[in-house]
Amino acid sequence: MITLALSKGRIFDETLPLLKAAGIEVLDDPETTRKLILATNQPQVRVVLVRASDVPTYVQYGGADLGITGKDTLLEHGSQGLYQPLDLQIAKCRISVAVREGFDYAAAVQQGSRLRVATKYVAIAREFFASKGVHVDLIKLYGSMELAPLTGLADAIVDLVSTGNTLKANHLVEVERIMDISSRLVVNQAALKLKQQPMRAIIDAFAAALKTPTSV
Ligand code: PRP
Repeated sequence: MITLALSKGRIFDETLPLLKAAGIEVLDDPETTRKLILATNQPQVRVVLVRASDVPTYVQYGGADLGITGKDTLLEHGSQGLYQPLDLQIAKCRISVAVREGFDYAAAVQQGSRLRVATKYVAIAREFFASKGVHVDLIKLYGSMELAPLTGLADAIVDLVSTGNTLKANHLVEVERIMDISSRLVVNQAALKLKQQPMRAIIDAFAAALKTPTSV
């Protein structure tokens, strides 16, 4: 049995065409079923639905053989024990710094005073501001980051931006782009050795669909 860990939403939706290219069709719709283990048209392949931030953990410890997860999640989690053979070029977005409209970010950064930054992406934010030599106090949040500058909880946020509509609706502006994000295929190293043939077939089919060579 090959187990693929996916999270619901954009990653799941954008993975379906890649699975199809590998001859795999998921038999349940994650938006309507309460099941967490989804069968596919291939008896030896199943999908498990996990929280996006749990995908690397499942694959690292062998709860899943393969998974698909954002670069943001991988950077926060760390990628110990995970092969990353493919950038799947799906769920593309960016991770950026944003502030309230009218907030003088350039001055705040130059003054050398400490900037209060709210984010779910503490590791990425810490590394980014350290590389700029900006002192920050990081406030860990789990969602609705946009509220932090509006309520005075923080001066700035570090968050994912896709269309920019969420920032706009909350009168926030993007002031720095930290990095581009897309989703990666992650593979359990031991599983790749033990189940080499069926795992390689899936990895190669994904690579063929993307028309890129694999690095594993
Ligand atoms: C992300 C992010 C923003 C939004 C940006 O949230 O945290 O809130 O998407 O997208 P936009 O630029 O297209 O408006 P997501 O919907 O992934 O949920 P989350 O709050 O659980 O991270």
